[in-house]
Amino acid sequence: MRVGCIGAGYVGLVTSALMAQKGHEVLCIEKDIRKISLLRQARVPFFEPGLEDILRETLRNGQLQFSTDIAALGEFSPKAVFICVGTPSSEDGGADTRMVMEVVDQLAGTLEAQTVVVLKSTVPLGTYRRVDLQLKAKARVPLYVANNPEFLREGSAVYDFLYPDRIVIGYEDERARGVLEELYAPFFEASGATLWMDPASAELIKYASNAFLALKISFVNLMGDLAAKTGGDIWKVAQGVGMDKRIGPHFLSPGLGYGGSCLPKDTRALISTLESLGLDQGLFRSVERINASRIDLALEVLKGALGGPLEGAALGVWGAAFKARTDDIREAPSLRLIQALLDSGTKVKVYDPKAMDNLKGLFGRKIEYAKDAYDAASDVDALALATEWPEFLEVSFDRVKGLMRQPVIIDCRSHLRGLQLESKGFYYATLHGPAMPPAPISAGSLL
Ligand code: UDX
Repeated sequence: MRVGCIGAGYVGLVTSALMAQKGHEVLCIEKDIRKISLLRQARVPFFEPGLEDILRETLRNGQLQFSTDIAALGEFSPKAVFICVGTPSSEDGGADTRMVMEVVDQLAGTLEAQTVVVLKSTVPLGTYRRVDLQLKAKARVPLYVANNPEFLREGSAVYDFLYPDRIVIGYEDERARGVLEELYAPFFEASGATLWMDPASAELIKYASNAFLALKISFVNLMGDLAAKTGGDIWKVAQGVGMDKRIGPHFLSPGLGYGGSCLPKDTRALISTLESLGLDQGLFRSVERINASRIDLALEVLKGALGGPLEGAALGVWGAAFKARTDDIREAPSLRLIQALLDSGTKVKVYDPKAMDNLKGLFGRKIEYAKDAYDAASDVDALALATEWPEFLEVSFDRVKGLMRQPVIIDCRSHLRGLQLESKGFYYATLHGPAMPPAPISAGSLL
């Protein structure tokens, strides 16, 4: 069937390309001319593993087309249109839905009767209702709304779209459900489950999911602080806690905390909503506070390693992206670490395998941009690892040691724990004390 998509960002482009790959005819609308010209050359304007091949394939076979003009959807007459535009944080922490509502107004005057407008952007609770009322007020024809939140992780978004744990769809009209069933038919088999429900529940699942992930991360970081004070090994603690099937091992990696364009924004939006409804925000304000405190902890560990103030020291930083397998630096903890180091009077040299261009736009000449991991290590008093890129496991640490003024590595993501760097003559520390890799688990212990 014919499908429209508004927005060709991390969510919109993945949605468009995979809907097209599964046989739908897709018209993706993107207002950024620069992005559109790249996309039409089958080039993805950001790093997302596997996406460029799918884009090339679906452009070549004509299943996917791009336009800068929403009006083109009129002629294209899709049965469903995804809204995948940004909903950034506004001043009060709530999600800013102006872009969504602008698109809704344009769609109201463009779409044919009974088209389904599918909200995939992460939208504040109650947005479905607002959109439904707006369409009823502005459209000359009856249009449907559905809420279909995305659960895509940057760096594995293609996999997550093809093999979702669940597809969540909030709707009210059975005809809208019929269109969504046709739309997702090619995905049901590989999906964990499809949950059809009321829109309010579908909206809340998204916030509750991301806020819970943020909670897990701050939980393990707080337990890490406790373990470091009491002589415990947080990696053994996390391993032991994570083996409880009710808890699970994922999102229990202590380190520099969470960043990205989703967890911070969605947690803030949830706090804002809780506050506006007079509900307790304490739990998630603590999640934010613990997350923010990781930078001060990293500075303390660095000062301990250097035996004094950071003023005048030269620091190498490995990693800028908010996590590995992405070039996205939005709200990356590494940025707050870099800024804190600059504020402490250190010279900073940064290397990231994918995010250097994005970084240059942010820090300009305030930092040095290393050409590789070794360059970032040369002539520095210490190295801080901020992003868990696999590349950093492969470097020659003998060579790194020879390049550094002194062999000091602070591993803020506990990424190098298994390399036994102490035995290579490094002062090695994580944010939660010297780390020993957990002992291998004997099969018997799992029975
Ligand atoms: C997240 C959600 O996972 C995804 O379902 C949602 O659709 C969008 O937001 P993403 O922002 O791409 O995805 O990143 P994610 O993989 O969730 O990691 C978020 C942050 O948490 C990263 O900065 C990561 O380094 C950090 N993290 C993750 C930890 O600090 N510890 C962990 O154990 C896991």
